[in-house]
Amino acid sequence: MARRIAVIAGATRGIGFALTRALARAWDADDRVYLTARRPADGQAAVDRLAADGLAVGWLPFDLADPASPGRLAAVLGERHGGVDVALLNGAYIPRPAGRRPMMRGR
Ligand SMILES: NC(=O)c1ccc[n+]([C@@H]2O[C@H](COP(=O)([O-])OP(=O)(O)OC[C@H]3O[C@@H](n4cnc5c(N)ncnc54)[C@H](OP(=O)(O)O)[C@@H]3O)[C@@H](O)[C@H]2O)c1
Repeated sequence: MARRIAVIAGATRGIGFALTRALARAWDADDRVYLTARRPADGQAAVDRLAADGLAVGWLPFDLADPASPGRLAAVLGERHGGVDVALLNGAYIPRPAGRRPMMRGR
Protein backbone atom coordinates (compact mmCIF):
# COMPACT_ATOMS: atom_id res chain seq x y z
CA MET A 1 0.00 0.00 0.00
CA ALA A 2 1.18 3.54 -0.71
CA ARG A 3 2.64 5.58 2.14
CA ARG A 4 -0.07 7.52 4.00
CA ILE A 5 0.25 10.87 5.73
CA ALA A 6 -1.94 12.07 8.64
CA VAL A 7 -2.05 15.18 10.78
CA ILE A 8 -4.05 15.46 14.01
CA ALA A 9 -4.38 19.09 15.08
CA GLY A 10 -4.66 19.72 18.82
CA ALA A 11 -3.18 16.44 19.98
CA THR A 12 -0.77 17.20 22.82
CA ARG A 13 -3.27 15.69 25.27
CA GLY A 14 -6.83 14.41 25.61
CA ILE A 15 -8.84 13.11 22.67
CA GLY A 16 -6.36 14.29 20.04
CA PHE A 17 -3.47 12.52 21.75
CA ALA A 18 -5.52 9.30 22.02
CA LEU A 19 -6.45 9.54 18.32
CA THR A 20 -2.81 10.04 17.41
CA ARG A 21 -1.75 7.04 19.45
CA ALA A 22 -4.46 4.85 17.91
CA LEU A 23 -3.63 5.90 14.35
CA ALA A 24 0.13 5.44 14.83
CA ARG A 25 -0.52 1.95 16.20
CA ALA A 26 -2.88 1.02 13.35
CA TRP A 27 -0.78 2.35 10.48
CA ASP A 28 2.32 0.82 8.94
CA ALA A 29 5.91 1.78 9.71
CA ASP A 30 6.33 3.68 6.44
CA ASP A 31 3.20 5.76 7.00
CA ARG A 32 3.72 9.11 8.76
CA VAL A 33 1.59 10.57 11.57
CA TYR A 34 2.00 14.14 12.86
CA LEU A 35 0.40 15.82 15.85
CA THR A 36 0.30 19.58 16.27
CA ALA A 37 1.05 21.81 19.23
CA ARG A 38 1.14 25.52 19.96
CA ARG A 39 4.26 25.26 22.11
CA PRO A 40 7.39 23.33 21.06
CA ALA A 41 7.90 21.85 24.53
CA ASP A 42 4.35 20.42 24.53
CA GLY A 43 4.75 19.00 21.02
CA GLN A 44 8.05 17.38 21.89
CA ALA A 45 6.69 16.01 25.19
CA ALA A 46 3.75 14.36 23.37
CA VAL A 47 6.08 12.88 20.75
CA ASP A 48 8.39 11.59 23.51
CA ARG A 49 5.47 9.90 25.31
CA LEU A 50 4.51 8.12 22.10
CA ALA A 51 8.14 7.19 21.38
CA ALA A 52 8.29 5.55 24.83
CA ASP A 53 5.52 3.25 23.55
CA GLY A 54 7.51 2.51 20.39
CA LEU A 55 5.46 4.86 18.18
CA ALA A 56 7.26 7.19 15.75
CA VAL A 57 5.17 10.37 15.46
CA GLY A 58 6.30 13.86 14.44
CA TRP A 59 4.99 17.20 15.62
CA LEU A 60 4.32 20.46 13.77
CA PRO A 61 3.39 23.93 15.05
CA PHE A 62 -0.26 24.97 14.67
CA ASP A 63 -2.44 27.57 16.41
CA LEU A 64 -6.03 28.16 15.35
CA ALA A 65 -5.88 31.63 16.90
CA ASP A 66 -3.32 32.61 14.23
CA PRO A 67 -5.05 32.98 10.81
CA ALA A 68 -1.76 32.26 9.01
CA SER A 69 -1.14 29.01 10.88
CA PRO A 70 -3.35 26.63 8.80
CA GLY A 71 -1.66 27.80 5.60
CA ARG A 72 1.80 27.30 7.11
CA LEU A 73 0.87 23.79 8.25
CA ALA A 74 -0.49 22.90 4.80
CA ALA A 75 2.65 24.31 3.15
CA VAL A 76 4.98 22.22 5.32
CA LEU A 77 3.00 19.05 4.65
CA GLY A 78 2.86 19.88 0.95
CA GLU A 79 6.61 20.43 0.75
CA ARG A 80 7.47 17.30 2.74
CA HIS A 81 4.88 14.88 1.39
CA GLY A 82 2.97 16.48 -1.48
CA GLY A 83 -0.21 16.60 0.61
CA VAL A 84 -2.00 14.77 3.38
CA ASP A 85 -4.37 11.78 3.36
CA VAL A 86 -6.02 12.25 6.78
CA ALA A 87 -6.48 15.57 8.60
CA LEU A 88 -8.29 15.65 11.96
CA LEU A 89 -9.03 18.99 13.58
CA ASN A 90 -9.47 18.18 17.25
CA GLY A 91 -8.47 21.37 19.06
CA ALA A 92 -11.11 24.07 19.28
CA TYR A 93 -10.77 27.83 19.38
CA ILE A 94 -13.69 30.24 19.74
CA PRO A 95 -12.68 33.85 19.12
CA ARG A 96 -14.34 36.36 21.41
CA PRO A 97 -15.50 39.46 19.50
CA ALA A 98 -13.65 42.58 20.62
CA GLY A 99 -15.59 44.51 23.24
CA ARG A 100 -17.92 41.61 24.09
CA ARG A 101 -18.06 40.79 27.79
CA PRO A 102 -18.26 37.15 28.89
CA MET A 103 -21.81 35.98 29.65
CA MET A 104 -20.80 34.06 32.77
CA ARG A 105 -18.98 35.35 35.79
CA GLY A 106 -15.43 34.10 36.20
CA ARG A 107 -14.99 33.15 32.54
N1 LIG B 1 -13.41 15.67 26.58
C1 LIG B 1 -14.75 15.73 26.43
O1 LIG B 1 -15.53 15.09 27.17
C2 LIG B 1 -15.35 16.57 25.31
C3 LIG B 1 -16.74 16.59 25.14
C4 LIG B 1 -17.28 17.34 24.11
C5 LIG B 1 -16.45 18.07 23.26
N2 LIG B 1 -15.12 18.06 23.45
C6 LIG B 1 -14.30 18.83 22.53
O2 LIG B 1 -13.36 17.98 21.91
C7 LIG B 1 -12.13 18.68 21.72
C8 LIG B 1 -10.98 17.94 22.43
O3 LIG B 1 -11.30 17.74 23.80
P1 LIG B 1 -10.20 17.31 24.85
O4 LIG B 1 -10.91 16.95 26.11
O5 LIG B 1 -9.29 16.30 24.22
O6 LIG B 1 -9.43 18.72 25.07
P2 LIG B 1 -8.01 19.01 25.77
O7 LIG B 1 -7.56 17.83 26.57
O8 LIG B 1 -8.17 20.32 26.46
O9 LIG B 1 -7.03 19.16 24.52
C9 LIG B 1 -7.23 20.20 23.61
C10 LIG B 1 -6.15 20.15 22.54
O10 LIG B 1 -6.40 21.25 21.67
C11 LIG B 1 -5.20 21.99 21.51
N3 LIG B 1 -5.53 23.39 21.35
C12 LIG B 1 -6.06 24.25 22.26
N4 LIG B 1 -6.17 25.49 21.74
C13 LIG B 1 -5.68 25.41 20.47
C14 LIG B 1 -5.50 26.37 19.43
N5 LIG B 1 -5.82 27.66 19.58
N6 LIG B 1 -4.96 25.95 18.25
C15 LIG B 1 -4.61 24.66 18.09
N7 LIG B 1 -4.74 23.70 19.04
C16 LIG B 1 -5.27 24.08 20.22
C17 LIG B 1 -4.37 21.73 22.75
O11 LIG B 1 -3.01 21.82 22.40
P3 LIG B 1 -1.93 22.81 23.12
O12 LIG B 1 -0.88 21.94 23.71
O13 LIG B 1 -1.39 23.62 21.99
O14 LIG B 1 -2.65 23.63 24.17
C18 LIG B 1 -4.75 20.29 23.09
O15 LIG B 1 -3.89 19.38 22.44
C19 LIG B 1 -12.34 20.08 22.27
O16 LIG B 1 -12.72 20.91 21.20
C20 LIG B 1 -13.48 19.91 23.25
O17 LIG B 1 -14.22 21.11 23.40
C21 LIG B 1 -14.55 17.32 24.45
